[in-house]
Amino acid sequence: MEYITFALPKGRLALQTLGFLEKIGITCEEMKDKDSRKLIFTNEDLKIKFFLAKATDVPTYVEYGAADIGVVGKDTILEEDRDLYEVLDLKVGKCRMCVAGPASAKPLLNSGQIIRVATKYPRIAKDYFQNRKHQTVEIIKLNGSIELAPIVGLSEVIVDIVETGTTLRENGLEVLEEILPLSARMVVNQVSMKMEHERITDIIDRLRKELQ
Ligand code: PRP
Repeated sequence: MEYITFALPKGRLALQTLGFLEKIGITCEEMKDKDSRKLIFTNEDLKIKFFLAKATDVPTYVEYGAADIGVVGKDTILEEDRDLYEVLDLKVGKCRMCVAGPASAKPLLNSGQIIRVATKYPRIAKDYFQNRKHQTVEIIKLNGSIELAPIVGLSEVIVDIVETGTTLRENGLEVLEEILPLSARMVVNQVSMKMEHERITDIIDRLRKELQ
């Protein structure tokens, strides 16, 4: 029997996924050690492997078949735009992709003016402004602390993830428009879905029942 390999994003989501998998009898004790720096774990009895990757790389590992199954946020799935099957909403890691900025920037969003939008998600931001709002914008790619951009004058607004809203609030910014709700999803390599159809659909079906 071949191994089924899972790519999980390092951190809380990996542990939550492990919690779900445990409920359907798929366990991996050594992965629970938070102090370990190990990246690959194996359950020899079940012929299952897990590896821990950077969240934004999970779709890449799954598209190329280095992992059969991945767990990753919907934001990363949309931004990476890889060829894979999205099979299950795990309903954790819930948050929203939003346009945010100072309240004073709100009129700029319907003005037809060319504004600057700072974001870690240029593809999502471009798609939203071009195809849904039909507004021409200049997108500025950043890698973190996006909320800084409108405060220091780099951009008028940002496109970013809002979970509790605390980061926005504490920096004098607010949600100006909601783009879409987000949560963690399970994704599957397209070839694996054919080659290991029975084992993979069994995992998905049992998880789906567990999540109901
Ligand atoms: C994310 C996001 C926001 C913040 C939202 O940042 O980019 O900054 O969390 O959460 P909140 O609404 O609960 O305040 P992250 O912690 O990933 O850091 P980064 O943007 O610097 O990468």
